[in-house]
Amino acid sequence: MEKNMQAEKLFGVIGDPVGHSLSPVMHNDQFAFQELPYYYHAFHVKPGELKEAVNGLKALHVSGFNVTVPHKIEVMNYLDSIDEEARMIGAVNTVVKEENGWIGYNTDGKGYVESLLTKAGETLENSSILVIGAGGAARAVISELARRGVRQLTVTNRTSAKAEALKERVSERADIRAVPTPEAEKDTPSFDIIINTTSVGMSPHVDNIPWRTDHLKPGCICSDLIYNPLKTAWLQEAERAGAQVLNGVGMFVGQGAFAFQKWTGIWPDVDRMHAVVMHHLGGN
Ligand code: ATR
Repeated sequence: MEKNMQAEKLFGVIGDPVGHSLSPVMHNDQFAFQELPYYYHAFHVKPGELKEAVNGLKALHVSGFNVTVPHKIEVMNYLDSIDEEARMIGAVNTVVKEENGWIGYNTDGKGYVESLLTKAGETLENSSILVIGAGGAARAVISELARRGVRQLTVTNRTSAKAEALKERVSERADIRAVPTPEAEKDTPSFDIIINTTSVGMSPHVDNIPWRTDHLKPGCICSDLIYNPLKTAWLQEAERAGAQVLNGVGMFVGQGAFAFQKWTGIWPDVDRMHAVVMHHLGGN
């Protein structure tokens, strides 16, 4: 958007913290690139202020917004309808103002799987996939993998009961195993893809490693949803052990790309979004 042009539509993200979000720079660059007179802003919304904030956004006639930590679950109370995927995941990260009201979607899982496919090739159905963690991010990733027909899906978590609960949640979609961590560790050589959805290894605890790398299947993919640091200690170790590695930038960009499409009807230039984000993260 040119500097003295009025934005015709307003978008944004609500979260706490939200100051370091890369969504504004990513979406505003893409709006300009697509010559759309739209603007995207980061709104700091503290817990306890969510209802007022969502009502405020509605009253201001924003056209849509993203939702990030810690509001992805509670925001569902203030929307008119929740898309089936988001309901399955139990969280909303993208809200769209549609003819029939404010609709909540979840683009995290789709965004993640798109980025995984760039590494894994075209199909995942026959891959054996391990997901570490059973929180919101794991639910998004597992729901989408199950929707895509992955047949050999295993989840493990520090707290086993949460892995069991996640398994129950998606069991109508996929035959998924919930396995205690020591047992899953023994199975490490059988996995084609290992996905860390926990925060283990995230800055500032950059030396922590979520999974051992000493008996990985040759050629397997180790994928971390973390992008701060860009290459976690686990990914560095896995790469030295011969694995292909994937960081969390692709998921961040992918969820943004699907949100952008929902708001504008246009599939964005994903490579450009990726480059903008990498530039701001100090990568290349
Ligand atoms: P998110 O929405 O990012 O997934 P979350 O819902 O709080 O966040 O889930 C965090 C996940 O990381 C959980 O699976 C958590 O394990 P527990 O269910 O046992 O709490 C996992 N996690 C966080 N810190 C961890 C640690 N130090 N070691 C192992 N797992 C950890």
